[in-house]
Amino acid sequence: MKEKILVTGGAGYIGSHTCLELLNEGYEVVVVDNLSNASRESLARVEKLTGKTLSFYEVDIMDRAGLADVFHKEKNIAAVVHFAAKKAVGESVENPLEYYQNNITGSLCLCEMMLEHGVSRIVFSSSSTVYGSPETVPVQENARIGATNPYGHSKVMMEQVLMDTGKVNDWDVVILRYFNPVGAHDSGEIGEDPEYPFNLLPYVSQVAAGLREQVAIFGDDYETPDGTCIRDYIHVVDLAKAHVRSLDKILQKPQGLLVYNLGAGRGYSVKEMVEAFRRISGLEIKAVIEPRRSGDVPVSVGDPSKANKDLEWIAEHDLDDMVSSTWKWQTKYPRGYR
Ligand code: NAD
Ligand code: WQD
Repeated sequence: MKEKILVTGGAGYIGSHTCLELLNEGYEVVVVDNLSNASRESLARVEKLTGKTLSFYEVDIMDRAGLADVFHKEKNIAAVVHFAAKKAVGESVENPLEYYQNNITGSLCLCEMMLEHGVSRIVFSSSSTVYGSPETVPVQENARIGATNPYGHSKVMMEQVLMDTGKVNDWDVVILRYFNPVGAHDSGEIGEDPEYPFNLLPYVSQVAAGLREQVAIFGDDYETPDGTCIRDYIHVVDLAKAHVRSLDKILQKPQGLLVYNLGAGRGYSVKEMVEAFRRISGLEIKAVIEPRRSGDVPVSVGDPSKANKDLEWIAEHDLDDMVSSTWKWQTKYPRGYR
């Protein structure tokens, strides 16, 4: 058995896929999740798929005593992978304090616990949202930071907290800026299970499944080839593997601060995504053009070459894999984990 990894938010969408890859690679996995946006069932399926067990604590990372108890019971945590956060951009605009409280206070509590217990390695879930509206694409890690909403600000702040704390305490800090995570595990057993699908692909998937009537395409008058926004979609299994590579790297030898874009490095438009879903599902999928959604940038594509080189990692899944795995998960479990 390899080292013990504490995964916060491990029952969630990206967390559950990462737990699966960690177990498959022989790591010992301890999950802390308050189940505010997840089900325990995701981890039951991870255990079934891998034939391995993990430790689970239903604890809120803002609950100092609860978290202290986990660090106390689980001796020898070698590193933390920190997914736990609220992530709905619109909701963060409506209720910034809830977002700062959860994402910042929770993360600070986690960092303090790491300091107290001598845990000095962390892989942090950041987001392409920290770039706001990028001046040039594909965007590189040294691009100007400029988030435009409280959710994004919470990621920028936590990056800074980790950089400052890491520097003075000799931590290994890996900041992973994901572009647009999509898809599901190839088995169709685990996937994204949103209460309401704010993101494009889960929405299209629910329309294809007949759960919603039509997809609204938010704007077709952008300065892009077909007028709709372009995003760098990245398969969740590829993302999960990048976390394992990051851990392998910092557990092998001290690295200090590492910052990586995690994307495929190529973009697809909203129309292309809907069209791909039509092709793969063989269904019509009604789509209508609606006004632009406030806050959307025309193009967001990352340059993943730093991660490709340093982590020896590359996004292996293509567009068809992203769509077909989403559709497999949707048809196998129309009600997700419920
Ligand atoms: P998710 O909501 O599925 O997972 C987050 C998990 O954290 C959930 O299981 C939730 O129950 C848990 N959680 C939230 N607050 C908690 C708290 N205070 N204490 C304990 N557990 C808590 O989201 P996801 O898509 O898997 O995202 C994981 C991480 O990646 C988040 O930090 C998110 O901001 C970041 N991210 C996500 C995307 C995306 O589009 N999915 C893109 C970029 C970055
Ligand atoms: C993609 C494109 C929409 C829904 C968000 C967060 C970002 C990151 C990833 C966490 C856009 C269009 C969408 C719909 C549509 N999350 N769209 N109809 O906005 O690029 O990124 O998730 O860190 O921070 O902002 O993703 O999937 O919402 O939208 O036309 O019903 O699809 O306008 O152009 P986004 P998305």
